[in-house]
Amino acid sequence: MEIRFEKRDVLKEKPDQKNLGFGKYMTDYMFVMDWTKEEGWKDARIVPYAPITLDPACVTLHYAQETFEGLKAYRTDEGKIQLFRPEMNARRMITSNERLCMPGFPEDMFVEAVKALVKVEQDWVPSEPETSLYIRPFMFATESALGVHMATSYKFMIICCPVGAYYAEGINPVRILVEDELVRAVKGGTGFTKCGGNYAGSILGQVKAEKLGYSQVLWLDGEQRKYVEEVGTMNIMFKIAGEIYTAPIEGTVLAGVTRDSMIHILRDWGYTVNETRLSIDDLMKAGCDGTLEEIFGTGTAAVISPVGELRYREDTVIVNDFKIGELTRKLYDTLTGIQWGKLEDKYGWTVEVK
Ligand code: COI
Repeated sequence: MEIRFEKRDVLKEKPDQKNLGFGKYMTDYMFVMDWTKEEGWKDARIVPYAPITLDPACVTLHYAQETFEGLKAYRTDEGKIQLFRPEMNARRMITSNERLCMPGFPEDMFVEAVKALVKVEQDWVPSEPETSLYIRPFMFATESALGVHMATSYKFMIICCPVGAYYAEGINPVRILVEDELVRAVKGGTGFTKCGGNYAGSILGQVKAEKLGYSQVLWLDGEQRKYVEEVGTMNIMFKIAGEIYTAPIEGTVLAGVTRDSMIHILRDWGYTVNETRLSIDDLMKAGCDGTLEEIFGTGTAAVISPVGELRYREDTVIVNDFKIGELTRKLYDTLTGIQWGKLEDKYGWTVEVK
């Protein structure tokens, strides 16, 4: 793919790597490509980061034909820059786009575009411990028309920002509220896709949770509000009596790259991982009878995030004395060890940007 490069005159000042937070400082450039029904994908370019102009009748602003992805670039101690399983993000975006009637962005072009932008922005990949360059590919309809229909033109873009921990708690346990009224996804819907609409619908739950002092919401299945599904910004896993439980990928839960990687590693270590429906009642029971040993979330932004407290209606369960669990810590160290190049990548998951 030929990528046109438009240089900017003045580069931005880089933020303090010790205070990055999440998603606040955008880099100097962005990748852009356009799609039309007549011509397909065209005009790949890396241009100065800048606002984009949209017609007020742009389909996306009204009917939310939009999908996105999230991955990271990591700087190793030797100064190399590597990505983590970028092809999984590329494939997931294709799956999301199929559901939203949007054109697929080919896997090889996706990985090439990510690599090209990260290469241009290599000085933005931070080196402080536990920091990385968050990469946000996204696609949206650009056609202007108010009838609800499959749009005939789209933009694929990638922006980047150096980040630290997603949660203010960092690697310390977070408090999670189980939402038993609002729902995030139902079978046949868009729950398995990474589309903006899923997140828009989840914000009210998050606001409710935050008012009560919780960081995030644990969503239950949309039909019976009985089975645990995901935490909106991460998948979630439970260690109960030595075995791992996590919701199956059956149309309502996002197929997380970190989720998949953790299942792989856990099985490699000899753990039984049950990708099965787990009811909130059984989970709370396990919390009371002492068999619930650890809970952790998995996600690109969240990495591995221990959960120290779970509240469901009037009941509260404190997990592992509100301390990070042994297995959670080992998974965190292993995953981040591979990502930052401190441990051997025996699964072949990292991709160097050269
Ligand atoms: C990610 O983990 O990359 C996400 O996209 C989650 C969130 C920040 C929306």
